[in-house]
Amino acid sequence: MRFSSSILLALPAIAVAEEQIPILDRVKGFFSKATAAVSSSIPVVPSAPIKAATEKAASKAAAAIQHPITLENWREVLTVDPTASPPTTQDWLVFITGGNSTCYGLCANATKAWNASLPVLAAKPNPPKFAYLDCEQENILCNTWSVGCPSLYYFQIPKPLADQSAPSPTVRYQPLNRTSTTAQTYKELIVDNKIEDVVPYEGFFHPFNGDIQKYGLAIPYGYITWAFSKMPSWMPMILISFFSRSFMGKRMNPGAPAPAPAAAPASAR
Ligand SMILES: *[C@@H]1O[C@H](CO)[C@@H](O)[C@H](O)[C@H]1NC(C)=O
Ligand SMILES: *[C@@H]1O[C@H](CO)[C@@H](O)[C@H](O)[C@H]1NC(C)=O
Ligand SMILES: *[C@@H]1O[C@H](CO)[C@@H](O)[C@H](O)[C@H]1NC(C)=O
Ligand SMILES: *[C@@H]1O[C@H](CO)[C@@H](O)[C@H](O)[C@H]1NC(C)=O
Repeated sequence: MRFSSSILLALPAIAVAEEQIPILDRVKGFFSKATAAVSSSIPVVPSAPIKAATEKAASKAAAAIQHPITLENWREVLTVDPTASPPTTQDWLVFITGGNSTCYGLCANATKAWNASLPVLAAKPNPPKFAYLDCEQENILCNTWSVGCPSLYYFQIPKPLADQSAPSPTVRYQPLNRTSTTAQTYKELIVDNKIEDVVPYEGFFHPFNGDIQKYGLAIPYGYITWAFSKMPSWMPMILISFFSRSFMGKRMNPGAPAPAPAAAPASAR
Protein backbone atom coordinates (compact mmCIF):
# COMPACT_ATOMS: atom_id res chain seq x y z
CA MET A 1 0.00 0.00 0.00
CA ARG A 2 2.65 2.47 1.07
CA PHE A 3 4.85 1.33 -1.82
CA SER A 4 2.21 1.81 -4.49
CA SER A 5 1.01 5.15 -3.22
CA SER A 6 4.52 6.55 -3.20
CA ILE A 7 4.95 5.34 -6.77
CA LEU A 8 1.79 7.09 -7.80
CA LEU A 9 2.91 10.30 -6.12
CA ALA A 10 6.19 10.10 -7.98
CA LEU A 11 4.49 9.71 -11.34
CA PRO A 12 3.71 13.34 -12.06
CA ALA A 13 7.38 14.12 -11.48
CA ILE A 14 8.36 11.40 -13.90
CA ALA A 15 5.86 12.73 -16.38
CA VAL A 16 7.55 16.11 -16.29
CA ALA A 17 10.92 14.52 -16.71
CA GLU A 18 9.66 12.60 -19.70
CA GLU A 19 9.67 15.62 -22.00
CA GLN A 20 6.11 15.05 -23.14
CA ILE A 21 5.19 17.61 -20.54
CA PRO A 22 1.38 17.58 -20.59
CA ILE A 23 1.06 19.92 -17.62
CA LEU A 24 3.21 22.61 -19.17
CA ASP A 25 1.20 22.12 -22.31
CA ARG A 26 -1.97 22.76 -20.38
CA VAL A 27 -0.56 25.93 -18.91
CA LYS A 28 0.43 27.11 -22.35
CA GLY A 29 -2.98 26.12 -23.62
CA PHE A 30 -4.60 28.20 -20.95
CA PHE A 31 -2.86 31.30 -22.21
CA SER A 32 -3.67 30.58 -25.82
CA LYS A 33 -7.26 30.05 -24.81
CA ALA A 34 -7.35 33.41 -23.12
CA THR A 35 -5.90 34.99 -26.25
CA ALA A 36 -8.41 33.17 -28.42
CA ALA A 37 -11.26 34.33 -26.20
CA VAL A 38 -10.17 37.93 -26.62
CA SER A 39 -9.87 37.68 -30.38
CA SER A 40 -13.14 35.76 -30.72
CA SER A 41 -14.98 38.54 -28.95
CA ILE A 42 -14.29 40.58 -32.07
CA PRO A 43 -17.29 39.69 -34.24
CA VAL A 44 -16.64 37.83 -37.50
CA VAL A 45 -18.92 37.37 -40.47
CA PRO A 46 -20.44 33.87 -40.18
CA SER A 47 -18.93 31.58 -42.76
CA ALA A 48 -20.99 30.52 -45.75
CA PRO A 49 -23.12 27.37 -45.63
CA ILE A 50 -21.05 26.11 -48.56
CA LYS A 51 -18.04 25.96 -46.30
CA ALA A 52 -19.99 23.97 -43.75
CA ALA A 53 -21.10 21.53 -46.44
CA THR A 54 -17.57 20.88 -47.69
CA GLU A 55 -16.41 20.39 -44.13
CA LYS A 56 -19.15 17.86 -43.56
CA ALA A 57 -18.14 15.98 -46.69
CA ALA A 58 -14.50 15.99 -45.63
CA SER A 59 -15.33 14.61 -42.21
CA LYS A 60 -17.50 11.90 -43.81
CA ALA A 61 -14.64 10.89 -46.11
CA ALA A 62 -12.27 10.95 -43.15
CA ALA A 63 -14.54 8.69 -41.12
CA ALA A 64 -14.36 6.09 -43.88
CA ILE A 65 -10.55 6.07 -43.75
CA GLN A 66 -9.66 6.36 -40.08
CA HIS A 67 -10.60 4.10 -37.20
CA PRO A 68 -11.68 5.79 -33.99
CA ILE A 69 -9.80 4.34 -31.02
CA THR A 70 -10.81 4.21 -27.38
CA LEU A 71 -9.42 2.96 -24.10
CA GLU A 72 -11.34 -0.28 -24.68
CA ASN A 73 -10.56 -0.99 -28.32
CA TRP A 74 -7.09 0.35 -29.10
CA ARG A 75 -5.28 -2.94 -28.55
CA GLU A 76 -7.61 -4.68 -30.99
CA VAL A 77 -7.59 -1.90 -33.58
CA LEU A 78 -3.85 -1.25 -33.68
CA THR A 79 -2.81 -4.68 -34.87
CA VAL A 80 -1.42 -6.39 -37.94
CA ASP A 81 -3.69 -7.73 -40.64
CA PRO A 82 -3.90 -11.44 -39.76
CA THR A 83 -3.78 -12.44 -43.42
CA ALA A 84 -0.38 -10.79 -44.01
CA SER A 85 2.45 -13.31 -44.22
CA PRO A 86 4.69 -13.30 -41.13
CA PRO A 87 7.80 -11.17 -41.35
CA THR A 88 5.75 -8.04 -41.82
CA THR A 89 5.05 -4.80 -40.09
CA GLN A 90 1.87 -2.78 -40.03
CA ASP A 91 2.23 0.99 -39.84
CA TRP A 92 -0.43 2.88 -37.95
CA LEU A 93 -0.74 6.63 -37.73
CA VAL A 94 -2.80 7.84 -34.85
CA PHE A 95 -3.99 11.42 -35.05
CA ILE A 96 -4.61 12.81 -31.58
CA THR A 97 -6.92 15.72 -31.12
CA GLY A 98 -8.98 17.32 -28.39
CA GLY A 99 -11.77 19.72 -27.70
CA ASN A 100 -12.55 22.58 -25.40
CA SER A 101 -11.21 21.16 -22.18
CA THR A 102 -8.34 19.06 -23.55
CA CYS A 103 -7.09 21.36 -26.30
CA TYR A 104 -8.56 24.68 -25.21
CA GLY A 105 -10.57 24.69 -28.42
CA LEU A 106 -7.37 25.17 -30.42
CA CYS A 107 -7.21 21.82 -32.18
CA ALA A 108 -9.97 22.51 -34.69
CA ASN A 109 -7.76 23.87 -37.49
CA ALA A 110 -5.22 21.08 -37.25
CA THR A 111 -8.04 18.53 -37.13
CA LYS A 112 -9.82 19.94 -40.16
CA ALA A 113 -6.56 19.94 -42.09
CA TRP A 114 -5.97 16.36 -41.00
CA ASN A 115 -9.42 15.19 -42.12
CA ALA A 116 -9.02 17.02 -45.41
CA SER A 117 -5.57 15.51 -46.04
CA LEU A 118 -6.55 11.93 -45.30
CA PRO A 119 -7.64 10.96 -48.85
CA VAL A 120 -4.29 12.22 -50.16
CA LEU A 121 -2.29 10.52 -47.42
CA ALA A 122 -4.14 7.26 -47.94
CA ALA A 123 -3.29 7.35 -51.65
CA LYS A 124 0.46 7.25 -51.12
CA PRO A 125 2.27 4.02 -52.01
CA ASN A 126 2.27 1.56 -49.10
CA PRO A 127 -0.04 3.72 -47.02
CA PRO A 128 -0.18 3.24 -43.26
CA LYS A 129 -3.50 2.65 -41.57
CA PHE A 130 -5.06 5.62 -39.83
CA ALA A 131 -6.62 5.99 -36.43
CA TYR A 132 -8.28 8.93 -34.71
CA LEU A 133 -8.06 9.59 -30.99
CA ASP A 134 -10.18 12.33 -29.47
CA CYS A 135 -8.80 13.16 -26.03
CA GLU A 136 -11.98 15.01 -25.18
CA GLN A 137 -13.80 11.68 -25.13
CA GLU A 138 -10.83 9.42 -24.40
CA ASN A 139 -9.13 11.45 -21.72
CA ILE A 140 -7.95 8.42 -19.76
CA LEU A 141 -6.28 6.84 -22.79
CA CYS A 142 -4.52 10.11 -23.62
CA ASN A 143 -3.29 10.33 -20.04
CA THR A 144 -1.99 6.77 -19.95
CA TRP A 145 -0.01 7.47 -23.12
CA SER A 146 0.88 10.91 -21.76
CA VAL A 147 0.17 12.58 -25.07
CA GLY A 148 -0.93 16.12 -25.77
CA CYS A 149 -2.95 17.33 -28.70
CA PRO A 150 -2.82 17.90 -31.55
CA SER A 151 -0.16 15.30 -32.26
CA LEU A 152 0.65 12.27 -34.33
CA TYR A 153 1.69 8.92 -32.92
CA TYR A 154 3.31 6.67 -35.50
CA PHE A 155 3.35 2.97 -34.65
CA GLN A 156 5.20 0.27 -36.56
CA ILE A 157 3.77 -2.96 -35.28
CA PRO A 158 5.51 -6.22 -36.21
CA LYS A 159 3.44 -9.30 -36.77
CA PRO A 160 4.17 -12.02 -34.20
CA LEU A 161 6.23 -14.88 -35.60
CA ALA A 162 5.01 -18.47 -35.58
CA ASP A 163 6.38 -18.96 -32.05
CA GLN A 164 4.40 -15.89 -30.89
CA SER A 165 7.55 -13.88 -30.30
CA ALA A 166 7.41 -10.43 -31.79
CA PRO A 167 9.95 -7.65 -31.84
CA SER A 168 8.48 -4.74 -29.92
CA PRO A 169 6.61 -2.06 -31.86
CA THR A 170 8.50 1.10 -32.73
CA VAL A 171 6.63 4.26 -31.77
CA ARG A 172 7.35 7.83 -32.81
CA TYR A 173 5.60 10.77 -31.22
CA GLN A 174 5.27 14.03 -33.10
CA PRO A 175 3.54 16.96 -31.40
CA LEU A 176 1.92 19.37 -33.83
CA ASN A 177 1.78 23.13 -33.65
CA ARG A 178 -1.74 24.27 -32.81
CA THR A 179 -1.58 27.35 -34.99
CA SER A 180 0.69 26.57 -37.89
CA THR A 181 -0.29 22.96 -38.74
CA THR A 182 -1.76 22.66 -42.23
CA ALA A 183 -2.29 19.99 -44.85
CA GLN A 184 1.24 20.78 -46.02
CA THR A 185 2.60 19.73 -42.60
CA TYR A 186 0.93 16.34 -42.92
CA LYS A 187 2.11 15.91 -46.48
CA GLU A 188 5.72 16.53 -45.44
CA LEU A 189 5.48 14.26 -42.43
CA ILE A 190 3.71 11.37 -44.06
CA VAL A 191 4.06 11.45 -47.84
CA ASP A 192 7.65 12.72 -47.69
CA ASN A 193 8.23 10.43 -44.70
CA LYS A 194 9.73 13.09 -42.42
CA ILE A 195 8.12 11.27 -39.53
CA GLU A 196 10.71 8.51 -39.94
CA ASP A 197 13.28 11.05 -38.71
CA VAL A 198 11.59 11.39 -35.35
CA VAL A 199 13.60 9.54 -32.72
CA PRO A 200 11.60 6.52 -31.54
CA TYR A 201 10.19 6.87 -28.08
CA GLU A 202 11.41 4.26 -25.61
CA GLY A 203 10.34 5.57 -22.24
CA PHE A 204 7.98 4.95 -19.42
CA PHE A 205 4.81 5.83 -21.34
CA HIS A 206 5.49 3.63 -24.38
CA PRO A 207 1.99 2.34 -25.19
CA PHE A 208 3.13 -1.24 -25.83
CA ASN A 209 6.11 -1.94 -23.61
CA GLY A 210 6.65 1.07 -21.38
CA ASP A 211 7.02 0.32 -17.69
CA ILE A 212 3.67 1.93 -17.04
CA GLN A 213 2.03 -0.80 -19.12
CA LYS A 214 4.24 -3.59 -17.77
CA TYR A 215 3.41 -2.83 -14.16
CA GLY A 216 -0.30 -2.31 -14.77
CA LEU A 217 -0.08 1.32 -13.71
CA ALA A 218 -1.40 2.82 -16.93
CA ILE A 219 -5.08 2.84 -16.04
CA PRO A 220 -4.70 4.09 -12.43
CA TYR A 221 -2.27 6.73 -13.66
CA GLY A 222 -4.73 7.80 -16.35
CA TYR A 223 -7.48 8.23 -13.78
CA ILE A 224 -5.27 10.09 -11.31
CA THR A 225 -4.05 12.61 -13.86
CA TRP A 226 -7.62 12.97 -15.04
CA ALA A 227 -8.71 13.69 -11.46
CA PHE A 228 -5.96 16.27 -11.14
CA SER A 229 -7.09 17.95 -14.33
CA LYS A 230 -10.66 18.15 -13.00
CA MET A 231 -9.53 19.62 -9.69
CA PRO A 232 -9.67 23.36 -9.26
CA SER A 233 -6.14 24.67 -9.59
CA TRP A 234 -5.83 25.74 -5.97
CA MET A 235 -6.68 22.27 -4.70
CA PRO A 236 -3.25 20.64 -5.10
CA MET A 237 -1.69 23.57 -3.21
CA ILE A 238 -4.06 23.11 -0.32
CA LEU A 239 -3.45 19.37 -0.30
CA ILE A 240 0.31 19.78 -0.41
CA SER A 241 0.28 22.31 2.37
CA PHE A 242 -2.04 20.09 4.40
CA PHE A 243 0.13 17.01 3.96
CA SER A 244 3.38 18.77 4.59
CA ARG A 245 1.99 20.33 7.72
CA SER A 246 0.70 17.09 9.16
CA PHE A 247 3.93 15.39 8.14
CA MET A 248 6.06 18.07 9.78
CA GLY A 249 3.79 18.04 12.79
CA LYS A 250 4.31 14.31 13.20
CA ARG A 251 8.05 14.66 12.90
CA MET A 252 8.23 17.48 15.41
CA ASN A 253 5.94 16.10 18.05
CA PRO A 254 7.01 12.60 19.09
CA GLY A 255 8.96 12.82 22.30
CA ALA A 256 7.86 16.42 22.58
CA PRO A 257 10.66 18.91 23.50
CA ALA A 258 13.04 16.77 21.52
CA PRO A 259 16.83 16.57 21.66
CA ALA A 260 18.16 20.15 21.90
CA PRO A 261 21.50 18.51 22.70
CA ALA A 262 24.99 19.80 23.29
CA ALA A 263 24.20 23.45 23.53
CA ALA A 264 27.59 25.01 24.01
CA PRO A 265 30.58 23.26 22.43
CA ALA A 266 30.04 24.61 18.90
CA SER A 267 31.21 28.07 19.97
CA ALA A 268 34.82 26.99 20.36
CA ARG A 269 36.11 29.58 17.88
C1 LIG B 1 -12.73 14.56 -38.53
O1 LIG B 1 -13.20 13.27 -38.86
C2 LIG B 1 -13.77 12.54 -37.78
C3 LIG B 1 -14.23 11.22 -38.28
O2 LIG B 1 -13.13 10.40 -38.57
C4 LIG B 1 -14.93 13.30 -37.19
O3 LIG B 1 -15.42 12.60 -36.05
C5 LIG B 1 -14.47 14.67 -36.77
O4 LIG B 1 -15.58 15.42 -36.31
C6 LIG B 1 -13.83 15.41 -37.92
N1 LIG B 1 -13.33 16.67 -37.42
C7 LIG B 1 -13.38 17.81 -38.09
C8 LIG B 1 -12.88 19.02 -37.41
O5 LIG B 1 -13.80 17.85 -39.22
C1 LIG C 1 -16.42 24.94 -27.09
O1 LIG C 1 -16.31 26.32 -26.78
C2 LIG C 1 -16.89 27.18 -27.77
C3 LIG C 1 -16.57 28.61 -27.37
O2 LIG C 1 -16.46 28.76 -26.01
C4 LIG C 1 -18.40 26.90 -27.83
O3 LIG C 1 -18.96 27.71 -28.82
C5 LIG C 1 -18.60 25.44 -28.20
O4 LIG C 1 -19.99 25.14 -28.19
C6 LIG C 1 -17.89 24.54 -27.22
N1 LIG C 1 -17.99 23.17 -27.69
C7 LIG C 1 -18.31 22.16 -26.91
C8 LIG C 1 -18.37 20.82 -27.56
O5 LIG C 1 -18.54 22.29 -25.72
C1 LIG D 1 -7.93 28.73 -37.31
O1 LIG D 1 -8.09 29.27 -38.62
C2 LIG D 1 -8.81 30.49 -38.63
C3 LIG D 1 -9.03 30.86 -40.07
O2 LIG D 1 -7.93 30.57 -40.86
C4 LIG D 1 -8.00 31.54 -37.88
O3 LIG D 1 -8.70 32.76 -37.85
C5 LIG D 1 -7.80 31.06 -36.43
O4 LIG D 1 -7.00 31.97 -35.73
C6 LIG D 1 -7.15 29.69 -36.41
N1 LIG D 1 -7.12 29.19 -35.06
C7 LIG D 1 -6.00 28.75 -34.49
C8 LIG D 1 -6.11 28.25 -33.10
O5 LIG D 1 -4.93 28.74 -35.06
C1 LIG E 1 3.73 27.46 -33.81
O1 LIG E 1 3.75 28.21 -35.00
C2 LIG E 1 3.74 29.60 -34.80
C3 LIG E 1 3.61 30.28 -36.15
O2 LIG E 1 4.43 29.68 -37.08
C4 LIG E 1 5.02 30.02 -34.08
O3 LIG E 1 4.99 31.40 -33.84
C5 LIG E 1 5.06 29.27 -32.74
O4 LIG E 1 6.26 29.56 -32.09
C6 LIG E 1 4.96 27.79 -32.96
N1 LIG E 1 4.83 27.14 -31.68
C7 LIG E 1 5.63 26.14 -31.30
C8 LIG E 1 5.37 25.57 -29.97
O5 LIG E 1 6.53 25.73 -32.02
